[in-house]
Amino acid sequence: MKNFAKQAASSFTLRPGEIFCDHEKTDYEKVAKTISTRLPSAPNPPKLLGEGFDTLCFKHGERAIKILKTGNFDERSYKIRKAILEDQLSRKLYEYSNRNFYPEGRCFVPVEIEDFLEGETVPKGVHDKEGLSSIARQLALIHQSSPVKVDKTRWEQISRITSSNNNNPHFRRHLKHPDFNPSWKYLEETLGLQKEETIAKLLGILDGIDKEDICFCHNDIWGDNIIRNGKELFVIDFGDADWGFRGWDLAYFLLHNQSLENLDEIDLFLDAYISSFDKDPVEFKQHLSAQLNLFVPYLLVGKYNMKFNVQILNNNDFLIYYN
Ligand SMILES: Nc1ncnc2c1ncn2[C@@H]1O[C@H](COP(=O)(O)OP(=O)(O)OP(=O)(O)O)[C@@H](O)[C@H]1O
Ligand SMILES: [Mg+2]
Repeated sequence: MKNFAKQAASSFTLRPGEIFCDHEKTDYEKVAKTISTRLPSAPNPPKLLGEGFDTLCFKHGERAIKILKTGNFDERSYKIRKAILEDQLSRKLYEYSNRNFYPEGRCFVPVEIEDFLEGETVPKGVHDKEGLSSIARQLALIHQSSPVKVDKTRWEQISRITSSNNNNPHFRRHLKHPDFNPSWKYLEETLGLQKEETIAKLLGILDGIDKEDICFCHNDIWGDNIIRNGKELFVIDFGDADWGFRGWDLAYFLLHNQSLENLDEIDLFLDAYISSFDKDPVEFKQHLSAQLNLFVPYLLVGKYNMKFNVQILNNNDFLIYYN
């Protein structure tokens, strides 16, 4: 992780004598303790809740302290989190900082402090009616928000995928990548999908995607990023939130939630999502179904080497089908 200091330092200039923490040597309990001294006091010291790939999350009284181990927070992410949490999902973000003081006086770690949410994540997914509807409505709110303008690089990424006149080289490259072979093999063996034929079909649908389906997205919505407290569910972790494809978010959730085998769950989820929009429900549902038919295989083939159980109801209609 030698690059860390370099990477973080590139985001702003350090003053003489200042250094970023080497994350392998950092005592994060101690960091959290230092940070907690300026928060409202609590009966116990900060308690480690979980350690992810990039972050550590501590509970301190009514606050969650999230420390980023690698990389750094930036202005754009701050605006996204603030707008979404405070305006849309009514949760407070107290502090979001790129340079947080660490004990010995010379080290800095990026930190984010927000309301602590009582409850547990839902690794097995959300399968009850109220829960599915709640997630669908929260996702609809996110999709209707625009906390930041779509920036140039993001737009380029998106338009590269949707542009028909360059025949989607970006997507094609991903699909052809040798690492995806296990997925192809699985799809061929179990679902009888032939590689070339499938690529052609996916490219064809991608070409047809329209701007209406590009919206602000969560981009990582699944059980580990949802906290349940009794009947209440909270979507967390906006680390990947940005402009993207509506269908990606919907497919991503339904796939990870293991809902694709259960048509009732898909229906419930989509109906709740649709009810948050002022659109013709029948047409919109057909439209979303087509989007799922595109993005489920996109995720299966393009992102994972994993086996998911996907039920095919109608071979002519690709992977999933419903009324
Ligand atoms: N506001 C909160 N209240 C209570 N617990 C939280 C809160 N935020 C995060 N957590 C807990 O900490 C864990 C990690 O947080 P989060 O999902 O934001 O980061 P991550 O998945 O490690 O990071 P990344 O942004 O890299 O995906 C969560 O799965 C959850 O258990
Ligand atoms: Mg997470």
